[in-house]
Amino acid sequence: MATDFTEETAIDAVAESFAATPDPRLRELLTSLARHLHAFVRETEPTIGEWQQAIDFLTATGHMCDDERQEFILLSDVFGISMLVETINNRKTAGATESTVLGPFHVVTSPRRELGDNIDLVGTGPQCVVEGRVLSVDGTPLPGAQIDVWQANDQGFYDVQQPDVQPRGNGRGLFTTGQDGAFWFRTIVPSHYPIPHDGPVGTLLEATRRHPYRPAHIHFIVTAPGHRPLTTHIFVAGSPYIESDAVFAVKKSLITEFTEVDDPALHDPERAARYGLTGPFRLATFDIVLQPQG
Ligand code: BEZ
Ligand code: FE
Repeated sequence: MATDFTEETAIDAVAESFAATPDPRLRELLTSLARHLHAFVRETEPTIGEWQQAIDFLTATGHMCDDERQEFILLSDVFGISMLVETINNRKTAGATESTVLGPFHVVTSPRRELGDNIDLVGTGPQCVVEGRVLSVDGTPLPGAQIDVWQANDQGFYDVQQPDVQPRGNGRGLFTTGQDGAFWFRTIVPSHYPIPHDGPVGTLLEATRRHPYRPAHIHFIVTAPGHRPLTTHIFVAGSPYIESDAVFAVKKSLITEFTEVDDPALHDPERAARYGLTGPFRLATFDIVLQPQG
């Protein structure tokens, strides 16, 4: 029997149409999506032209995607959805390091490096040491943990964005923690940078008077046996846009001081010698606390 369409009951017919979906989770997701979409349309009452504009926008977003560029993820990022999904799926016990978005610039095979190596292969930008320990929530150090690190340079570009300018692997490294769970590496202080904004997502940001910038940060993926993998960043305290990240990925606990160390040779020769640095540098100390599996 045909159902009579009304604005109010249309959603019941749509929900009913999904009722025989064998996979209960798929049924739940589709039914809920339909309910929220119908509620959105009933609330905002888009004109035919506005709805067509929305379809055109999504079509352009799809056309912008290829193996290198994922405009739909960017769209999810600027709506805060990527961050919401990430946070829901990584609820932490107290004391564990918080997670944040992966972003599009992770390269699966970061070059393997020794503790203390310099991941800056170019030698421009303010030099910097990042050090800390990987620990379990009960404070036990985790030797042998893998730390995959990647960052933009001091101009705000990742190596993959500038294949003719930066050597491949610049700003990247895969480290293993020592016996005491400690890690350290040398690098340069990264710059804040804009997310790709030459496509439909950029058009949306412009139309809504939003800027495309992310505050300066260094990405980490940390894994250790028996612990949940962690995808996170440290954010450079005081960076521009720290209060208005275009992808809403800042968590206060991840903001880290990159302290100026003016003259290491003068103030702490032992430490300077250990770091292999002579001039001024900045020091970021950040312990990474992993949550046991299960
Ligand atoms: C990033 O931090 O690499 C990033 C995250 C989300 C969107 C664009 C870039
Ligand atoms: Fe990034």
